[in-house]
Amino acid sequence: MEKSYKIAVLPGDGTGPEVVVEGKKVLSAVADKYGFKLDFTEFDFGGDRYIRTGEVLPDSAADELREFDSIFLGAIGHPDVKPGILEKGILLRLRFELDQYINLRPVRLYPGVETPLKNKGPKDIDYVVVRENTGGIYTGTGGNSMIGTPNEVAVQSMVYNRFQVDRCLRYAFEYTRTHGKKARGVGPENTLGLVGKTNVLTHVFDLWERAFHEMGENEYPDVKRDYYHVDATCMWMVKSPEWFDVLVTTNMFGDIITDLGAMTQGGMGIAAGGNINPEGVGMFEPIGGSAPKYTGQGVINPLASIVAGSMMLDTLGETEAAKTVEEAVMYVTGNKIKSLAAKRMGYSTSEVGDLVVAQI
Ligand code: IPM
Ligand code: MN
Repeated sequence: MEKSYKIAVLPGDGTGPEVVVEGKKVLSAVADKYGFKLDFTEFDFGGDRYIRTGEVLPDSAADELREFDSIFLGAIGHPDVKPGILEKGILLRLRFELDQYINLRPVRLYPGVETPLKNKGPKDIDYVVVRENTGGIYTGTGGNSMIGTPNEVAVQSMVYNRFQVDRCLRYAFEYTRTHGKKARGVGPENTLGLVGKTNVLTHVFDLWERAFHEMGENEYPDVKRDYYHVDATCMWMVKSPEWFDVLVTTNMFGDIITDLGAMTQGGMGIAAGGNINPEGVGMFEPIGGSAPKYTGQGVINPLASIVAGSMMLDTLGETEAAKTVEEAVMYVTGNKIKSLAAKRMGYSTSEVGDLVVAQI
């Protein structure tokens, strides 16, 4: 029997729905080619629904979504909703409730894409950040006291336990083994670099560092280990990105360095990410926002959504199909579109989707 995957689609706000249409178009084309089925079910979570109903996310959402093999997300963020409500109420809530403890963010410069880094090309900018996605400062552990007085106190703690650290590291080591530079045939070694701040944040990063070397030594001797301070990482991401293969880091550091990474790979028109629960259901998204000013014009670049689709396939185990999609995107960036920027691609949103499909 033909293999079939149930995909929950959350088009979301702004240009989210437009890019999701192209993502689905490409996914369906590659599924046909490789002989599996994708069964899409749409959910209307987002700003419009919130304005209409006053509810950000129904309490049943996580349970409903758990029934799917994966979630394909467009964009969250509405110009008429105060910043933070939808991001926290939908994106962060689903990450936590579905225990998507990994955020996988490739930083890969595709052919023909302009980077602000001088003299760097696709061979140099080709690494992946594994961001811990449900712990650390993002848990909100802490509080305020004596509010309104000169002694007001605010605490927001970076909290990690060994279990959270170990499961994130395990994913990162496994991922490095299967997707590192040696595994992909583009380098001599598979290298996992821990990004931390052992010189200052001694409590948390002592735990990460010990767990990292223990696991590496005992279980992944074939994976080379590096350590970088987070500030130095930012420096090398600009100066020598070719040093990196797979990086693993905490939630907050990962959030910050992946925005820097996204800019070096051509920006929000191309950067994609996956919120992954290796034992459960993942959620894949273009990491750019909802770009509300371009809504409905057919000018937004759908490639980031298409790349998110490729990551979804890879995580589902459809590795050949995933590779085919990514290669088709690389063909389109290298040979077809003029720019990744909205309005400047030389093609409409749906024409870019068609170009990728033609290549598949
Ligand atoms: C991201 C975003 C989110 C985060 C926000 C919107 C909550 O910046 O996915 O990187 O901080 O994780
Ligand atoms: Mn971010």
